[in-house]
Amino acid sequence: MGPPTSSRSNPAGTAAPSTPGAVKRARKYIDGHVAANPSLDVIAQAAGMSSFHLLRGFKKAIGVAPHAYLAQRRVEAARYLLLKGQPLRHVAIAADTQCPAMEDEMIDLRSDTRSQPTAEMRHIMASADVGDDVYGDDPTVKELEREVADLLGKEDAVYMVTGTMTNQVAIRAHTEPGDAVLFDQNAHVYILEGGASAAISGVLPRLLPGVRGVFTAQDVLDALGRPHRFFPSTIPAPVKLLCLENTHNVGGGKIWPIEQLAEVCNVARSKGIALHLDGARLWHATAATQIPEREYAKHFDTVSVCFSKGLGAPIGSALAGPRDFIDRARRFKQQIGGGFRQAGIVAGGALYALRHNRERLKEDHEHARLLANGIAGLPGISLDVATVETNIVRFGITSIAAGEFVEKLHAKGLYVLPSGVDGVRAIPYLNISRAQILDAVSIIASVAQEHASAATKSAYEAGASNGAGY
Ligand SMILES: Cc1ncc(COP(=O)(O)O)c(C=O)c1O
Repeated sequence: MGPPTSSRSNPAGTAAPSTPGAVKRARKYIDGHVAANPSLDVIAQAAGMSSFHLLRGFKKAIGVAPHAYLAQRRVEAARYLLLKGQPLRHVAIAADTQCPAMEDEMIDLRSDTRSQPTAEMRHIMASADVGDDVYGDDPTVKELEREVADLLGKEDAVYMVTGTMTNQVAIRAHTEPGDAVLFDQNAHVYILEGGASAAISGVLPRLLPGVRGVFTAQDVLDALGRPHRFFPSTIPAPVKLLCLENTHNVGGGKIWPIEQLAEVCNVARSKGIALHLDGARLWHATAATQIPEREYAKHFDTVSVCFSKGLGAPIGSALAGPRDFIDRARRFKQQIGGGFRQAGIVAGGALYALRHNRERLKEDHEHARLLANGIAGLPGISLDVATVETNIVRFGITSIAAGEFVEKLHAKGLYVLPSGVDGVRAIPYLNISRAQILDAVSIIASVAQEHASAATKSAYEAGASNGAGY
């Protein structure tokens, strides 16, 4: 009995047997039309035979059915795009699959922590040598810790899950409950770490009046007051630690001038105060100034750095300092549940980021300037472009509430963060292209213009109604 040759299974109405030439034609057709995802009928038509013959002959000649071969080719295409570092949504389209990481075509400038690991980084992570971080024998973690310590000019370093953990473990290891710590009033470690310094270390904050995160040696002296022999030194909480943040997040990526940083650290040290640097984005200061990380780090006892922000690794931060201090820090890391076993998988990504992604931060800085130059001067936007020194763009909204402005941008395809009472924060990173920055500028401009004309109209109406004109 012959094969069924309905018009559905064989639109061309041909019932030619599966000759090697026809199978070859079908294969060539699939290879050339991977992106179009052709149906079996269409492939059969191109090969000049029935679907039945296509199925049977193709499987015999190639070893898999034509639709399975097509699926394989799509996976290969997706893998190729992934290796080329293409955006995940292109990869997802090539693989004909949903990609939850890229819900749509949104441009997401909420944070540099949104960066996605590249294909090469994922490959390195998947093949990383691992041990057990708690037993101290994970080779990839050890390699990362050695490399970070060397880069920062410190004796040792310890890898942890987050920058919050490295900062808070540092505070815990530097202090005892009841001690006082000097923080800038807008320091991440003070305002954005869930109250951890109070909860974990039981320390008392003394706030410094930084301007965009930068304070002076005099501010430090003023915070310490003037001891006098009539006043018992046991009354105030002893100040044991100063934390400084470079670059400063809430300060809009502000870089500390190195002379001022040295002066502040010298004054604190002369008063017997230990020094911790929150260097979550220290890499950015170095990329912008060419001052090596260790030149900043040398003024501090301990330094925290993050791999999961601009450097593009998925997870991790490190705390560097003297060997005995880092030993003590390892104890507190364990105490708060920070031992993460086969951590080499993620440390592999951090190592890759450290070795390959520091230089390219300049591109993010350029994108931040491009964004700032594009939106400064728009109606209702307050931004001094000179304040954009690294990858963070912070600007004020004077027309409507910042939260409302951010919602309107979101409706047009741009994600940014409301910041403070009337501010907005936008941060370019690894996976953000120049074209996306230009699109972001257009979206911000259109929302700003919408509100400029509304303001003009109501002023006109108010003027018209009282006869004063406009
Ligand atoms: C300056 C600064 N320090 C510390 C952190 C905390 O890092 P993590 O999110 O890894 O806890 C951040 C996070 O954005 C930060 O901006």
